[in-house]
Amino acid sequence: MANPDQARLVKAAVLASKCAVAPYSKFHVGAALLTRSGEIISGANVESISYGLTCCAERVALFKALTEGKKNFTAVAVVAALKDGPTPCGACRQLLFEYAPEAVVWIADTRAPKKVREFTVRELLPHAFSF
Ligand code: THU
Repeated sequence: MANPDQARLVKAAVLASKCAVAPYSKFHVGAALLTRSGEIISGANVESISYGLTCCAERVALFKALTEGKKNFTAVAVVAALKDGPTPCGACRQLLFEYAPEAVVWIADTRAPKKVREFTVRELLPHAFSF
């Protein structure tokens, strides 16, 4: 049976991707975090003319959520127009490990939002840096 949280979260990520600011890559990524209490916080990638300053959708969503006092994330959805969807980059994996270690990660192609791949954060970043 379809997971209603999953459908809701992927939809929020797809909506967020429409607000991506990606004039250089034109690659629009959306991310959405779900809290234990059912709240959704979303974000999209923001690029800089100084390319290295670009911030991924996952980190935008995470920083938004954290600085609004949100925590206890149970899931994160990440979408882009890419076959089977975009798996988070290494930097985002580290931050997800630190601030959303228990979250399931749902990945989808914006154009096929019902086909979702599922990972755990630990699966995506084994042996993460921690002390
Ligand atoms: N990007 C994300 O937003 N999330 C990822 O996990 C990988 C890449 C963005 C960064 C940049 O704006 C564009 O995708 C192309 O790399």
